[in-house]
Amino acid sequence: MSRKMKNKVVSNLLIERIAAEGKCVAHHEGKVVFVQNVAPGDVVDVRVTRGKSSFLEGEAIHFHEYSKDRVEPFCSHFGTCGGCKWQHINYDLQQTYKRQQVLDQFTRIAKVEIPEVLPILGSQQTQYYRNKLDFTFSNNRWLTREEINSGESFERNAVGFHIPKMFDKIIDIEHCYLQGNISNDVRNELRVFALENNLSFYDIRNQVGLLRNLIIRTSSTGESMVIVQFGADEPAEIALVMNFLHKRFPEITSLLYIVNLKKNETFHDLEVVTFAGKSYIEEEMEGLRFRIGPKSFYQTNSAQAYELYKVAREFAELTGDEVVYDLYTGTGTIANFVAKQAKQVIGIEYVEAAIADAKLNAQVNGLDNTLFYAGDMKDMLTDDFIARHAKPDVIITDPPRAGMHEDVVNMLLKLEAPKIVYVSCNPATQARDVALLAEKYTVDKIQPVDMFPQTYHVENVVRLTLKP
Ligand SMILES: C[S@@+](CC[C@H](N)C(=O)[O-])C[C@H]1O[C@@H](n2cnc3c(N)ncnc32)[C@H](O)[C@@H]1O
Repeated sequence: MSRKMKNKVVSNLLIERIAAEGKCVAHHEGKVVFVQNVAPGDVVDVRVTRGKSSFLEGEAIHFHEYSKDRVEPFCSHFGTCGGCKWQHINYDLQQTYKRQQVLDQFTRIAKVEIPEVLPILGSQQTQYYRNKLDFTFSNNRWLTREEINSGESFERNAVGFHIPKMFDKIIDIEHCYLQGNISNDVRNELRVFALENNLSFYDIRNQVGLLRNLIIRTSSTGESMVIVQFGADEPAEIALVMNFLHKRFPEITSLLYIVNLKKNETFHDLEVVTFAGKSYIEEEMEGLRFRIGPKSFYQTNSAQAYELYKVAREFAELTGDEVVYDLYTGTGTIANFVAKQAKQVIGIEYVEAAIADAKLNAQVNGLDNTLFYAGDMKDMLTDDFIARHAKPDVIITDPPRAGMHEDVVNMLLKLEAPKIVYVSCNPATQARDVALLAEKYTVDKIQPVDMFPQTYHVENVVRLTLKP
């Protein structure tokens, strides 16, 4: 019966609310219908794209009424680009939905007793808030339906973002509202230069082509890092591109490149060549300086990272006598941020280059009570490791989207630190981990922080206290 629903049109559906991952929810004949790119309050006709016995998925093909909470999207790429999918919803409401998402995940997945979810800490900047963007070059620009129907031929080289769920199609970005500074100029001028000089854009399917990927990182100190990934080892062409960027953008403080002949764009295992300037940029927070290398993670919204870290520090309630473990420490930012209020801080992280930066950051900032170790968390956090170090009074953990490995959660249960501050960019996996930790811990604070305006993503900090 459900399969028969595929391609059927359901008319006049009222979009009721937003569920996980930004999908909107409506109901039809007792079934949940998930619809993308609509807003609660819209009334739409939906073409069913997927039918299951318990739910339907569909796309809005006609709007009868628009929600009163809609605002005009500011970006010309809205609707095609996967970047800022919530531009059509006013920012106040975005924040309400994000807080609701946290509440929903903790109610449905964690199923533990929780205190009131605190009001979300909104971002002052709702545009140009990112300090890092990653653009892909492609000889297979995504064409709009109108372009295809026009029968004309178009330039197919592009530099921009992947179209959601289409690994080989790239939307050519004219202006991105996520990153300020020189970001748009560097991308656009490099595109023009490459076209004028007949340099090849990467062919993702056949894995050939010179220009492959462009990463731009900026910092609140005014520095910028530009990394160009080349898909061919052609020294003359590489020099041409890098000299162009160097001369045209003297304000780039760290100009780097990578020759990447691998099948994927990751470069943690590749040599990064410093073409001009320094091999890193620096961020600044409360007078502390943080060095960020090309392979290191740094929170992508610097201003909100500061708010996030203040929450983590406040939840940790440090007095100066505590041993703090900072798990998934990246470049040791949280560890160094709380070090002055702790007896000792131990940071663990699996990217070796990030740990090298973390150590350097401690040194540059004159912090002598930190220790940093590189390795996979589940292999590092062992009985042997604990025997060689002091037991933690506070654990701060900030894992990637996938959350913590079960072995790590079990180790935390064994360690019985009086407090755990769990920072997460994915409340669903955080709720899953908290459900396991609830064996010995109670949740006594939940603070969502908006690091990513115009998207459904939400950062969340939870404090867990050891049961008596
Ligand atoms: C969300 S980031 C947090 C970084 C840091 N706390 C900060 O605020 O800058 C997660 C970090 O976990 C690291 N990571 C991911 N999986 C890991 C694992 N299995 N073992 C150790 N570190 C891991 C990543 O390299 C990344 O630096």
